[in-house]
Amino acid sequence: MKTRLLGVDEIDVAADMIRRGGIVGMPTETVYGLAASAFNETAVANIFVAKGRPQDNPLIVHIASLDTLYELCESVPDVALEVAKRYWPGPLTMVFKKKPVVPHCVTAGMDTVAVRFTAHPVAQELIRRSGLPIAAPSANVSGYPSPTTAAHVMRDLSGKIDAVIDGGSCECGVESTVLSVFGQPRLLRPGSVTLEQLREIVPDVVVDKALRGEVRDDEKVSAPGMKYRHYAPSAPVVAVCGSVKASAEYILREMKAGELCICYSDCVSLFENRLCVEFGKSDDKEALARGIFGALRKADELSPTRIYVQCPDDGGVGLAVANRIKKAAGFNVVDADGVLSCL
Ligand code: TXA
Ligand code: MG
Repeated sequence: MKTRLLGVDEIDVAADMIRRGGIVGMPTETVYGLAASAFNETAVANIFVAKGRPQDNPLIVHIASLDTLYELCESVPDVALEVAKRYWPGPLTMVFKKKPVVPHCVTAGMDTVAVRFTAHPVAQELIRRSGLPIAAPSANVSGYPSPTTAAHVMRDLSGKIDAVIDGGSCECGVESTVLSVFGQPRLLRPGSVTLEQLREIVPDVVVDKALRGEVRDDEKVSAPGMKYRHYAPSAPVVAVCGSVKASAEYILREMKAGELCICYSDCVSLFENRLCVEFGKSDDKEALARGIFGALRKADELSPTRIYVQCPDDGGVGLAVANRIKKAAGFNVVDADGVLSCL
């Protein structure tokens, strides 16, 4: 199959593909998604095949109006409406009890469904023109960093999908925050809507344990996607936490020939004559979020034998960035502050 690269003035073409059961890469404000009709089981099955995605990992259903939420979900708790009022449309997904109309292949057999009202004008227009709720995981090969440009999608999926709409670079750069509102409110995946922001509306929100460490394959987790090694280049990755100075010094000390560092822009000069890729200024966590997946991809292209990544603290969007870095590292995490204080 030849994959067409479409402009943002060709949303009609993409909508037509989706209505006919095709699969299309679409920009959202978080990352690019691989879109298909949530009601077409063959198209949904094709998403899993194109990505090489494990069958037990459910998809997010994207909507462009609140009416569709009620069509898909059995009950919409008040707390969800409060959160929606503030953060929808936006980089936030909520998990609800599903109605029978949502096919099991979308939810991987679960009786809940993850729903996101995206703010991206192109995605919204695509959903409206196709007239369907749209199931879409991130448009990367499973296990690889999520795509934040149309070129990333082409690199991973060209020849396997019908088209990609090129909407430029994604504004957030990390995938949506996932909040379960089915029962006790639970943060399943951190994103650009931060834990601090959620706590203002949902003071009793709990943080899922999968966010803190690796989950064994046989363990049951609330968001199945959280248990897989993710965002991972081929080389082993080491996440180096701690202050800007301590993490840079630790990496400079440990790094050997052929190894690479993904560093803060303000540390680039320290890594002169070494393999390094920058991903944003240390004091601008939004920039780090925008840059992390592109940096992981770029690092991978340079075929290093190991990748060290400077990892921000958990405040604000830092929680999401650090989570993606730690997952890429398979939770191989070093605390550079701790290491230095031991010396
Ligand atoms: O920003 C995003 O969320 C992007 C764009 C395209 O919307 N999508 C995305 O999808 O990141 P994906 O499939 O790569 O990640 C969805 C995550 C997975 O961890 C999955 O396990 C979880 O959401 N998820 C989906 N349905 C769920 C459900 N019913 N219950 C719990 N977790 C669910
Ligand atoms: Mg994904």
